[in-house]
Amino acid sequence: MADSQNNNKYYPKNIGIIMDGNGRWAIRNSLKISEGHKKGVGVVRDIVEEAVKRGIQSLTLYAFSSENWQRPKREINAIKRLVIEAINEQVPELKEKKVKLKFFGHLDDFGEKIQNKIFFAENETCFEEAKLNLNVALGYGGQQDIVDIVYKVSEEVSSGSVNLKDITKETINSYSSVPVDEIDLLIRTGGDKRISNFLLYQIAYAEIMFIEKFWPDFTNKDFVNCLDNFKNVSRRFGKRI
Ligand code: FPP
Repeated sequence: MADSQNNNKYYPKNIGIIMDGNGRWAIRNSLKISEGHKKGVGVVRDIVEEAVKRGIQSLTLYAFSSENWQRPKREINAIKRLVIEAINEQVPELKEKKVKLKFFGHLDDFGEKIQNKIFFAENETCFEEAKLNLNVALGYGGQQDIVDIVYKVSEEVSSGSVNLKDITKETINSYSSVPVDEIDLLIRTGGDKRISNFLLYQIAYAEIMFIEKFWPDFTNKDFVNCLDNFKNVSRRFGKRI
């Protein structure tokens, strides 16, 4: 696809990441699963720093899917603790770098303590002109998001505040819990080639890069490689160019 006339030359504006492989990384290194997630948070910190440096507009991370509630309670609690720790430790740095944090998904299911932390983190980083928008999916599933949108729009149509014929692609985006409308590049680590219910509506024209490495082994260099590869892709959006 890469050719010198058609490549898009620019870094992606909006990036999504499925940070897979924490568990397998932990097992491979004879560590507890929670240690894999902990190492994963460290990688998030590094990639955020790189994204700010490279002028990326948004990073949307899959931290906890609606299906992850089926994991052992101990692992779920470890992830919850890590989210709280990450907010406590990283908000000052994110503030300094003008990174705007936004959490989305069924946050109500996480209890008051996490919701209060999220409220604090979003308030502290609520920049009008952020250097980077960092969106974190928690208790999120793409299909459920579409169900929620249908439900909300149907209510608006029944009450008369939205006309059925006025529903557009933009209407769907505006009712979605996802803070970004279109993903340009989706990266999945961990070797599996699937979407796992992430950002189903927003990845319509995303370039998708599947990386073999587990997330804890993913480096800034790997990330920059993805950005450079994206530059060489011809994006036609269905048109003949
Ligand atoms: C996938 O690896 C990873 C997760 C389900 C959790 C990711 C969560 C974090 C990195 C912590 C929270 C993040 C933030 C931004 C505060 P897996 O356990 O499914 O790996 P496996 O496929 O090898 O089992």
